[in-house]
Amino acid sequence: MNILEVSALNIFYSKSRIPVVEEVSFFLPAGKTLALVGESGCGKSLTGLAIMRLLPTGLEITGGQIHFENKNLLELSPEEMRRVRGGKIAMIFQDPMVSLNPVFTVGTQIAEVLELHRGLGRQKALAEAERLLAEVGLPAPKARLKAYPHELSGGMRQRVMIAMALAGNPKVLIADEPTTALDVTIQAQILALLASLKEKHNLSVLLISHDLGVVATLADLVAVMYAGRLVEKAPCEELFSKPLHPYTRALLEVLPRPEKKSLKPLPGQVPPPGARPAGCKFSDRCPSAQKKCFEKEPPWQEVFPRHWVRCFYVSDA
Ligand SMILES: Nc1ncnc2c1ncn2[C@@H]1O[C@H](COP(=O)(O)OP(=O)(O)OP(=O)(O)O)[C@@H](O)[C@H]1O
Ligand SMILES: [Mg+2]
Repeated sequence: MNILEVSALNIFYSKSRIPVVEEVSFFLPAGKTLALVGESGCGKSLTGLAIMRLLPTGLEITGGQIHFENKNLLELSPEEMRRVRGGKIAMIFQDPMVSLNPVFTVGTQIAEVLELHRGLGRQKALAEAERLLAEVGLPAPKARLKAYPHELSGGMRQRVMIAMALAGNPKVLIADEPTTALDVTIQAQILALLASLKEKHNLSVLLISHDLGVVATLADLVAVMYAGRLVEKAPCEELFSKPLHPYTRALLEVLPRPEKKSLKPLPGQVPPPGARPAGCKFSDRCPSAQKKCFEKEPPWQEVFPRHWVRCFYVSDA
């Protein structure tokens, strides 16, 4: 069963009507982790924010459906959406200060989520907040209830943000670059924490990351995004062992591995919305582009069971 289904999602700049995210479709099976990967500026965060209906001003959803528990989230009233957000669907970010308020203690902030989404009174909420801080591995949780976010290290703040996300009893967790800002050892700890919480709470996770190394450790399914579109989607192992899109292969090429002598970075960068090439969006950087690729957009096709790709020349791969 899929817990979340995103179908043909389109996001445009409101004023210029320039498309930013186009025709993005993916399903998140219950209890699984789907990773959304791609370089900076591909539209990963906007896709995550669109699910929460939290797009920044100036951007709007112009098409598509987002089904969660058999409801189209795009049709919920603002009040209904507020109950979903931070409740059944929670989101965590690269920078915990996006979610944490600098002027309130950690305990107060988690307690507020518990009051709002679980109807607990303040005393019970604080006790539960302490339990959650312990669950996410924060040392001295009772004392930390009284701490302000700036008194904590980056890794601890990340744990607090995860505790706050758990407070609403989420079914779906959207994690947008949850470890990107942390040093490697802390990164590994947070990834391990997310993996264990996912099992324990039977969470379904949408993991947003530019780092295929991070993705490999957590994901069941991977969707690769380029310039506002999905270009490939497959079960994780298959994507790593049998990448079909030249962009996916380019991303894998720069993954450090012991047996690799040198990395071959992909030249150029993701074109911004409005400057994307006609035809295949990757055509101007693709090492195997043919004439047709500059003229027509390749279709989104299921070339093997559960393995989708948007490229004319998959058979040459
Ligand atoms: N608030 C905004 N106003 C205008 N343009 C925006 C805004 N947020 C994002 N964009 C543009 O939309 C495109 C997609 O952005 P998005 O943040 O989704 O990328 P991303 O894949 O998450 O990249 P990163 O890895 O850097 O986080 C980019 O071209 C970006 O410049
Ligand atoms: Mg982002």
